[in-house]
Amino acid sequence: MSVAVIPGDGIGPEIVAQAANVLRAVRPDLTLTFALAGAAALRAGEAPLPQSTRRVCGSSDAILFGSVGDPEFDSAPFPQRPEAALFSLRSDFRLFANLRPVRVYDGLERASTLHAHLIRGLDLILVRELTGGIYFGRPKERAVNSDGVECAVDTMVYSKPEIERIVHVGFELARKRRKHLVSVDKQNILETSRLWRETVNAMAASYPDVGLEHLLVDNAAMQLVRRPADFDVIVTENMFGDILSDEAAILTGSIGNLPSASLAAGKPGWTFGMYEPIGGTAPDIAGRGIANPVGAILSAALLLRYSLNDVQSAQRVEAAVADVFAAGLHTADLAAAGGSVVSTEQFGAAVVGRLDGRGRSAHG
Ligand code: IPM
Ligand code: MG
Repeated sequence: MSVAVIPGDGIGPEIVAQAANVLRAVRPDLTLTFALAGAAALRAGEAPLPQSTRRVCGSSDAILFGSVGDPEFDSAPFPQRPEAALFSLRSDFRLFANLRPVRVYDGLERASTLHAHLIRGLDLILVRELTGGIYFGRPKERAVNSDGVECAVDTMVYSKPEIERIVHVGFELARKRRKHLVSVDKQNILETSRLWRETVNAMAASYPDVGLEHLLVDNAAMQLVRRPADFDVIVTENMFGDILSDEAAILTGSIGNLPSASLAAGKPGWTFGMYEPIGGTAPDIAGRGIANPVGAILSAALLLRYSLNDVQSAQRVEAAVADVFAAGLHTADLAAAGGSVVSTEQFGAAVVGRLDGRGRSAHG
């Protein structure tokens, strides 16, 4: 089996290097093919997502992605910006289901900005629709109205089948977890949200074993900091999911801890997907060897679980990360947790070390 590896920009290359080492350690049989995207591709005179990269992705079983973006290209039109690579990958490969698991590791409670008692036991998964809504709706343009005033328009549009397929992912995940689904919308204002809520309610009959709760997005943002440990699975549209996932991420102490999976149609467990940490390029710390590789390493674990159907290796990686945290090691972003601050490479090596140890004992 093969994995396309796209390190990208900013801290992407440093943290993806550690995730790639982890993949090699648990699955030496995998072929990893590195490819360019984002500012790295633009600097090489290519498009943000070069054809060659698209081909490597298309012929692989999954994509491991770092991050794209560079302030140098901020004023370029969107198609020539590094971020365009991300949007092409999401839409070309129809990666409609974005899964963002958030959990707090033992030993990191003190790194959260919330009181430790509020986040103890926090273990939720946010399911974000990723290929529709206001990110992709047309028209999306700048214009001058009839009075000569400059204006701009974005369009939020959802079809019923688009809502159904993402909400199914939410219900299915909830069924395998604590059986509680929170659907987030803004049905007091938005037509798309009224269709969303109606559709979710109609689907609930097929999932009598899952408890369903609706929250308006503003209230959901509040409840996430008020009673975060009560959440199990949250399902929502693209932009609400973007916003709530950053909020949920920081509950763990650092956005650098958070992995994500963007899945195409098919059953989670055997489907094409792209796996990326959600922390972004972090240009302020890029190249200094201090970035947190955990989001990237846990993304590799999700890749093993959902695209390679190798749950055992996924669990080994997750347990190794938990072990390293429990031993008091973490990168500088988690300094508030106490313990010892190590570099990106040292953290990655510690994870690989525990994998090797486990591998040896497992084989007697
Ligand atoms: C994310 C990011 C992207 C998004 C940005 C980089 C365009 O914030 O994956 O959450 O908004 O989808
Ligand atoms: Mg975001």
